[in-house]
Order: sequence, then structure tokens, then C-alpha cells
Amino acid sequence: MSVISVKPLFVILSTLSFLLAILLLSPSTPSLQSELSTISRNSGNSDIWSVKRIFEWRPCNWWLQSRLTPLPEKNNGYIRVDCYGGLNQMRRDFCDGVGIARLLNATLVLPKFEVAAYWNESSGFADIFDVDYFIKQMNGFVNVVRELPPEISSKEPVRVDCSKRKGQFDYIESVLPSLLKHHYISITPAMSQRRDRYPQNAKAALCQACYSALRLTKSLEHKATELLEAIPKPFLSLHLRFEPDMVAYSQCQYSGLSPTSMKAIEAARGDDRKPWTGEAARIWRKRGKCPLTPNETAFILQALSIPTNTNIYLAAGDGLMEIEGLTSIYTNVVTKSALLSGEDFESMHGNTKAALDYYVSINSDSYMATYFGNMDKMVSAMRAFKGLYKTLFLSRRAFAEFTSEGLEGERLMQALWKAHKDDFVMGRGSALPDCFLISKEAYLVHGDIGTATFYSPPYIPTKCDGNREEQFPPGNLFVAVSEGLWDNGAACGRRYRLRCLSGPRRPCKRKTIDVKVVDFCPITPCPSTILLSTDAFAAIAHQRGRKINIEYIQI
Ligand SMILES: *[C@@H]1O[C@H](CO)[C@@H](O)[C@H](O)[C@H]1NC(C)=O
Ligand SMILES: *[C@@H]1O[C@H](CO)[C@@H](O)[C@H](O)[C@H]1NC(C)=O
Ligand SMILES: *[C@@H]1O[C@H](CO)[C@@H](O)[C@H](O)[C@H]1NC(C)=O
Repeated sequence: MSVISVKPLFVILSTLSFLLAILLLSPSTPSLQSELSTISRNSGNSDIWSVKRIFEWRPCNWWLQSRLTPLPEKNNGYIRVDCYGGLNQMRRDFCDGVGIARLLNATLVLPKFEVAAYWNESSGFADIFDVDYFIKQMNGFVNVVRELPPEISSKEPVRVDCSKRKGQFDYIESVLPSLLKHHYISITPAMSQRRDRYPQNAKAALCQACYSALRLTKSLEHKATELLEAIPKPFLSLHLRFEPDMVAYSQCQYSGLSPTSMKAIEAARGDDRKPWTGEAARIWRKRGKCPLTPNETAFILQALSIPTNTNIYLAAGDGLMEIEGLTSIYTNVVTKSALLSGEDFESMHGNTKAALDYYVSINSDSYMATYFGNMDKMVSAMRAFKGLYKTLFLSRRAFAEFTSEGLEGERLMQALWKAHKDDFVMGRGSALPDCFLISKEAYLVHGDIGTATFYSPPYIPTKCDGNREEQFPPGNLFVAVSEGLWDNGAACGRRYRLRCLSGPRRPCKRKTIDVKVVDFCPITPCPSTILLSTDAFAAIAHQRGRKINIEYIQI
């Protein structure tokens, strides 16, 4: 076995105690946060994130393991997915389209991203997402080509319109014949479809495309990282929807808005979007149809005991109304326009801004949304995928119900706390069931803290199972443990869930992995609590941090 360079013990110890001190003081460490906020709470509630979650969404195994089943030999033709609307809607349609291509045994051509006129931009797929990475990540899930074969490269695809189809739309029945006939078609996926009827390989292709294969281009990611770094930490990313068109679309009425807002809403209402009045308006509101105002949002955040000095990144489009309702209470609110240089911001397209909000929101300490739109669905699922559990949707319905019952002040706060706490505990809304499975497992909220390094092959023989190859789990996510965890060999086969917390030079990837114990630490003295296989280490950290702090829990 190769030996990792081991620092003198006192260096390790002093570094460790220093890092531990940082960990103890860092409010973003979940296992410790609960204790801290229990002490500091003043209204009788600790903050919502310190509540222990019972249910957690996890990516399904059939997705993660699906690369193992071979792709069909016979190709039925080529499909281009044509996507319209905002960035997150295009992305969702594209994911669907990837699943359809796999279902139809077709080869995927890079999609067309047709940006709605009001975005004023030409951003195609390749301007936003890293094409090489996409193709690489989809390997084994579906065939993707960058260039069409010469015999069809000069043709435009034949458009098969399924976008308006609803319900039990069957692609094999209605689209496959066109594909076989024309050999190159373009589709915009139907609005709703019975994904539950897809074979697993098609669903897996969709999941892989949506959650594992789309990465921003280098230059966009660079910009996004800059933005992320400029935001004070730790921070909550808040997706607020209270733009004139949103409010007009909701057909809700609000009292107490400024004349400017009222005028903007009126202007956005067409003839078919007149607001409900009287009893209808009350019923509509009670069903949770009305967007939360920034003021109401601030009230709910307070009910959830989110301190008013919390750093909040506003992940929202331009044109939010009544934002003072939030910023007068939560004073540390930052926006893109304030953080990016003016010139940069001016020249930025709508899709670029949406991509930045998305990136920041899947990397924030916590995420809350007042709506459950395309962005929220993407972000919450990505966060579930990465093991970031602090995700919550504020309940318009709960707010409307309680206020219609006449609750106010402290009683309203208590009721809101309870409703949201229940949602959080049950993991409601944190992911969609297509690619994720809800499982009843204590999450990492109360894990232990230790250190991890990696060790290199040869990994056999191990102290647990000698030379047997079968002892290693798929993906080589295995570890060797030090004396404290070894338990005289009883540790063999135990499984741990772990994630990287910190380390020198920001090594952590924000992902949680499950590992299996196969060996006792092969190095003396053992350099860390847990030694990860190189694959396991690479899954949660960059190698530049050879030694990292981890949180782990036996599962
Ligand atoms: C796709 O290929 C598989 C074999 O790999 C076959 O079983 C299936 O029927 C094919 N589906 C279509 C729509 O051609
Ligand atoms: C669209 O953006 C370009 C610069 O990117 C600008 O020159 C042009 O005037 C804009 N058009 C509209 C309609 O806003
Ligand atoms: C915000 O809501 C509070 C009640 O929660 C109310 O007293 C206040 O007037 C509202 N402010 C605005 C600007 O609407």
C-alpha cells in the first residue's frame, strides 16, 4: 500500500483543534447549529433548520446504476429537442426530451434553446451549458452527437408538435412512426406526461440529464463563482416572486400596495386576467393561489425564527415590487445588481441572470422559495442530490388559511411555525418523485465530526475480506477506518454517510456519499479518522485538500 505523507503529529493536532474551533463557531454546521440556536432563541422556537428531519429525498438507485445496461444497437433516428421560455423551463423540457430520445432508441442532437423575445438574447444551449461535459456525462445513458451524420446534416428536422398534448400521451404510439419515417425530427415535449410508464432506462436518462449532466460553461461558472464569493456567508438564498405579471396572472387582489405597484399590476392584467372579487376571491386565496408579498414573506421568515440579521441573497428577477416590505425587516439583503459591477450587469442577458441565481441557490447554505415554479423544482432537486437539506417552500396556503381564521401576531407566528415545521420534518416539496425516492433516515444533522484523507491502491488484501473482489461496493465508495471506529473488526461492512465540511483551500464538493468499511487503517499512525478510497475522496472533495474535515454518521 502506498503511504500518504504524514505530517508530524503536533502539526496535525494544532491544525485540528484550530479547525474544530472554526467548526464550533460556524453557524452553518448543522449538528452544532441546533445547540447554538436552542441557546440563543428568544421567541420559544429555535430556527427551522435545527428541527430534525425524518424523511429525506435520495436519488434512486436505478438511476445511479443505469449506466450498466447497454444502449440499444439499433438507432431509430435523430431527435432534436426544441425548448422555449425561461431558462429553467427550457431545462426541464430538455430533460424530458432526453428521456423521450432514450425511450424511442434515438440519438440525441444538441437541443435548440429558443429564447422568448423579451429575453432579448441569442443564448443557445452551448452558450449556457458545457457541451463536452454533457456528452461525457450522458455516456451510457443515451447517445448524443454534436454533429449530424453527413446524409442528414443539411436537412432541418421535421417538427412533431406534442407541446400541447396532455395526460396519457404515448410517444411510442404518436412520435415513433414519424421518427422512423423522417429519421430526423424535432420535438417540444408534451406539457404533462406519464413518466411513470417510461421504462427505467428512459427515466434514468432524464434524471442523469437533469441533475448530473448540465453544468454551466466555464465563463458562466466563473462569473457565478465570483458572485457566490461576493455574498456574505453563511447565507439564505430567497426566491421571491412578486412581479407585476406574476401578480396579474394570479388574479389576486391585494390591499395596502403602493400606487406605483397597483398601476404596474393593472398594466400587466389583460382583459382575461381580471382579479377575483368577493367570495370567489376569498376561496381562491385560501387555496394558496396568491403570491406572498415581500412583507408577508418577512413575517413568515420571522415565524420560522430566521434571525433578522441573516444574510439573504435575493434570487429573483428584476422588477420585484414592494421589496421594502422585506428589506425594512431583514436588513442584510443583497442582490446581483449590487454585487456585480454595473457594466457587467447591464450587459447581462435574462438567461445569464437566471443561470447565476440557479448556481447561487444550489450552493447556498439554505434556500427558501415563495413559489413552486420551474426554478424551484430544479433547485430543490439539485439540492437534494447534493445532500443540502436546508430547503423550504413557504406555504401560501397556510398563510392564507390562518389569516382568514383571524389569526395574527404571535398566534399567527406559532401556527406558521408549526405548519412549516411539519413540512420540513416530512421533507415535503424538497424534490420531485421522478428521480428521487423519499427515505426514512436520520440525516446528517447529528453526525460526528472527524477528518478524512485518501489512500491509494492496491486495496487488497483487506483486514475485512482478504483478497475477495466482491467486498468492494459499486463505484468503489469504500473506506478504511482508524482505531476509534474499527471496533475490533466489528466495523467491517458498516456503512457510513459522510460529507466534507471544510479543509485547506476550499476542497469540499457539496455532496453526501454512502461508504462501506472494508479495512483497518493501513498506515501507522493513522493520518485521519477515516481513509477514503480515491474514488470516494474524489466524490466529496477536490484533491487539493489532502486532508479534510468531515461529518459522518453510521447508516
Ligand atoms: C429499443 O431497443 C430495445 C432493445 O435494445 C427494444 O427492446 C425496444 O423495443 C426498442 N424500442 C423502440 C421504441 O424501438
Ligand atoms: C438587445 O440587446 C442588444 C445588445 O445585447 C442591444 O443592442 C439591443 O438594442 C437590444 N434590443 C432590444 C429590443 O432591447
Ligand atoms: C407589513 O405587515 C404588517 C403586519 O404584519 C403591517 O403592520 C405593515 O403595515 C405592513 N407593511 C407594509 C409596507 O405593507
